[in-house]
Amino acid sequence: MKSSILAVLRERQDFVSGQELCDQFQVSRTAVWKGINQLKEDGYDIEAVPRKGYRLCGSPDSISEVEIRSRLHTAWAADTLYSLATVDSTNDYAKKLAEDGAEHGTVVIADEQTKGKGRRGRTWVTPAGSNIAVSMVVRPSELKPEKASMMTLLAGMAVAKAVQEVTGLSAGIKWPNDTVLNGKKISGTLTEMSMELGSIHYLVIGTGINANETRFPEELQQTATSLKCELGRDVDRAGLICAYLQAFEDYYDRFMEYQDLRLLVEDYQHLLVNMDREVKVLEPGNEYCGTARGINAAGCLLVEREDGSITEVYAGEVSVRGIYGYV
Ligand code: BTN
Repeated sequence: MKSSILAVLRERQDFVSGQELCDQFQVSRTAVWKGINQLKEDGYDIEAVPRKGYRLCGSPDSISEVEIRSRLHTAWAADTLYSLATVDSTNDYAKKLAEDGAEHGTVVIADEQTKGKGRRGRTWVTPAGSNIAVSMVVRPSELKPEKASMMTLLAGMAVAKAVQEVTGLSAGIKWPNDTVLNGKKISGTLTEMSMELGSIHYLVIGTGINANETRFPEELQQTATSLKCELGRDVDRAGLICAYLQAFEDYYDRFMEYQDLRLLVEDYQHLLVNMDREVKVLEPGNEYCGTARGINAAGCLLVEREDGSITEVYAGEVSVRGIYGYV
């Protein structure tokens, strides 16, 4: 009820009468009044004028379930949504939900992570009140487990699209899925899979976005940045989460049509910051250089070697660096 009232007030940007809200949601005047009061307690500035109704004058910087739901227009993503003040890791929380049968599209977001996880066993820091940590449970029926890593590329694309929509900044992707601005990382994704009898039981796709963080530890200062650092102002985290979920849902649906990236390769390559640049491929026990020539429908990076041959590099344990730095 709260998020429905909020959605109407936000959309109208003017007074909405109590009677109209009662009629629209088929509830009593008291129920509307209670909903409005709860929103005020949550920090929403709502003006109430006799015979005119209610008007939304200001919103807190909130990523609560009510705020997200009031702004979300997805078909299935985040139908079930958990917004937590603090958690060890949204991926771990989502995995527990998935083990207990959480439906496809269940989303967990958190204001703070105390044990956020990065790729290759690294940690990922999400201090309270500044960044975005979002994990989604997906159950891609009939997708072969070896194709699961392709989902990670969808998350990178969704972050880039959301950033463009909400801030106007043109983010790119460093293969396979780090989202970058001005050569520095703003977002990464950790995809975790559970298998059952050789097929995917569920995947948890967890994405962290440096939104309003301004201080980075010394060892990250050359390679990491945030939207606020690049923009010079705070970004609307709830708006970014909604845009990300919408974009992810769209890309996921397109991916599942053929269970590969063929419908997305072109869009992905427009975002690929490594495109036609020299890269160093770091495979366990094997290191080589070449020129990145895009990706194929399986999400492999196509690396042209000195002799003109093309090597297909699979995401996973491989990492790719620019010759002169991170990108
Ligand atoms: C990387 O190393 O680039 C991947 C970082 C992934 C971080 C996100 S934040 C939300 C989700 N929860 C986690 O513990 N990790 C992912």
